[in-house]
Amino acid sequence: MALEIDHVAIAVADLDDAAERYSRALGAEVIRETVESEGVNVAIMKLGSARVELISPIGEDGPIAAFLKKRGEGIHHMALRTDDIDAEVSRMEGCGLRFLGGVRAGSEGTRVTFIHPKSLNGVLTELCSGGA
Ligand code: CO
Repeated sequence: MALEIDHVAIAVADLDDAAERYSRALGAEVIRETVESEGVNVAIMKLGSARVELISPIGEDGPIAAFLKKRGEGIHHMALRTDDIDAEVSRMEGCGLRFLGGVRAGSEGTRVTFIHPKSLNGVLTELCSGGA
């Protein structure tokens, strides 16, 4: 049940500009996606078994737009992958970690939940399982 880093998500104001810069810097191809349910456009680059995801709000509202207004561009969350999300949530709750809502459906058949940033020194952390 070892955890792996699945992705690091970076909030950006201008997705085209950031995707161009990151693609060159990392030497990685960009896959673009729109996640309507989250109100974001995403640019994904694979690095080994992990990904870097640039996320940008579609409109003026939503959590990513609010994040950019409050904190500016930067790391929004990291995501850890597990084989058994329910067991991992129980184990982490046993360590005193607090979660933001229960396990729910994420994009592309994944199941996800988020650990409160106060539980991990200011880093919003996604737990995910399943999917491709
Ligand atoms: Co994520």
